[in-house]
Amino acid sequence: MKSEQIKKIGIAGAGTMGATFAHVFAESGYTVVLQDIAEEFLERGRKIINVNQNNLVKEGLLTEDVVKESHTRLSYTTDINAFEDVDFILEAIVEKLDIKQEFWAKVSRLVKKSALMASNTSGLSITQIAKDIADKSRFAGMHWWNPPHLIPLVEVIKGEETSDETAQSLIDLARKLNKKPVLVKKDAPGFIGNRLQYALLREALHIVDEGIATAQDVDDAMKYGLGFRYAGLGPIETVDLGGIDVFNNVGSYLFRALNNSPEIPKKLRELYEQGLYGIKTGRGFFDYSGGKGEEALRKRDAHFVRMLKCLYKRSE
Ligand SMILES: NC(=O)c1ccc[n+]([C@@H]2O[C@H](COP(=O)([O-])OP(=O)(O)OC[C@H]3O[C@@H](n4cnc5c(N)ncnc54)[C@H](O)[C@@H]3O)[C@@H](O)[C@H]2O)c1
Repeated sequence: MKSEQIKKIGIAGAGTMGATFAHVFAESGYTVVLQDIAEEFLERGRKIINVNQNNLVKEGLLTEDVVKESHTRLSYTTDINAFEDVDFILEAIVEKLDIKQEFWAKVSRLVKKSALMASNTSGLSITQIAKDIADKSRFAGMHWWNPPHLIPLVEVIKGEETSDETAQSLIDLARKLNKKPVLVKKDAPGFIGNRLQYALLREALHIVDEGIATAQDVDDAMKYGLGFRYAGLGPIETVDLGGIDVFNNVGSYLFRALNNSPEIPKKLRELYEQGLYGIKTGRGFFDYSGGKGEEALRKRDAHFVRMLKCLYKRSE
């Protein structure tokens, strides 16, 4: 199916990601059915949608009229049979391989024979998720980044049997939403974004662990140096602009000084074992108690909105 033929979209899972997908698609004119396993989860989805849309209106990225219209195109259900007539289904249910496999075994048999199918898995194998799907050529990974209504990147991942046509249609679909899609040609763990993120995280924690700098200074080095640069220039282009000779010479002594341990970094494991999960428990590497967590989220989203306005024209 070509992206132009996609009119009705099914979203499975009304959580952080799924609920947001539902309003993003509905705002772009698609008819959307949002499904979850129980009414209470749909209610949580409605709240997520309202909070997101209110913020987008406040920031001038969305109008009240578009919000109102989007609600006329959006329905909520606990019945998977509602996916029978969708053209595309995007799954954002819990990140457990067996649950995703069970979901797709059922749902791939009830959707139209032409419908495209995708999982928003963070890193599970697309090929394994598709294990019990009869026509695997119409199934791919479509990995958005949180918060998905603000971050432009969408990774489209080919499983072993995903057709080129399916991957291309999903890339085209993402572009219609003003997103910036990239194609992951091989089903490799972590796709592109998470491979880069975890390579960087390993070194960031190593720097702290070795006493080279504090966590705060590592984050600042990223935000005001590399992060600032990377919003406009990829790491590979950076080499061309800086000089292959320069990067070759620095690389000749620096690569060997970097951490290449396959283990989970010590401090990450320690915090995990202490039940300090970050914002959700009030403490991680930093302190989020007494309203500091809400403030951190507010600052994050305000920053992303400003970046979005500067770098990409979203709502036109
Ligand atoms: N949150 C993130 O930062 C993020 C980013 C990128 C990708 N993802 C991926 O997106 C997916 C969803 O993540 P989330 O953060 O939205 O999770 P979430 O826990 O907020 O929501 C998941 C929802 O799926 C529902 N669900 C569970 N089993 C179901 C089933 N069989 N059928 C229908 N609904 C079912 C749950 O009731 C819940 O409402 C996961 O695969 C996750 O790895 C998450």
